[in-house]
Amino acid sequence: MSRGLFLTLEGGDGSGKTTQAELLEQWFTAEGRTVVRTREPGGTAVGVEVREIVLHHRGDIAPRAEALLYAADRAHHVATVVRPALARGEVVVQDRYIDSSVAYQGAGRVLDAAEVRSISEWATEGLAPDLTILLDLPSDVARRRLDGARTRYDRLEAEAGEFHARVREAYLALAGAEPDRFLVVDATRPVDEIHSVIRARIEALA
Ligand code: TYD
Repeated sequence: MSRGLFLTLEGGDGSGKTTQAELLEQWFTAEGRTVVRTREPGGTAVGVEVREIVLHHRGDIAPRAEALLYAADRAHHVATVVRPALARGEVVVQDRYIDSSVAYQGAGRVLDAAEVRSISEWATEGLAPDLTILLDLPSDVARRRLDGARTRYDRLEAEAGEFHARVREAYLALAGAEPDRFLVVDATRPVDEIHSVIRARIEALA
């Protein structure tokens, strides 16, 4: 049995994570691997309920409560979906993980990024991805892509452009601090090129 592989995709809304996750799933499946495609928030039945609260609740949610809701979703998801799949030797291709919390909840400026990270590390008992693919996109380009695709924004998408610019900077800082775990790809490049770059990096994983 091959060893499990934990891959996470990160980036702003509209950066193309879903498209790249689909291409990765097709590739691994063609290679004979079993793939679990999943996401946070909302990768479990409990998580779907949490997702509804964090993304669509009308009215304010206190920043610490919001951070804990994402962490609660993550704790249940890792314990019941991600760790069991990795133990079976499967490939987990996951849309968003701890870096999303650090970038988004930390970028709100109210919460300390190190504290946000530490509650997620507690929630997941320290499970780290083998590789995190950051699809980097200037926030104005992301906004134009979303404007073309959406009729309704969720709570985070509706945040001001300045918030999304801070999220982008936070992601780039995270990637800079852990170059061995991150692959940063320019998300304005053609879909197939991005996929090739990601594949090459995965093939180079020890
Ligand atoms: P996502 O599922 O990528 O949104 P969509 O369905 O629109 O593609 O993510 C939902 C939102 O949740 C996104 O704006 C980022 C936010 N988020 C956080 O703020 N913190 C987190 O820890 C996670 C996982 C997501």
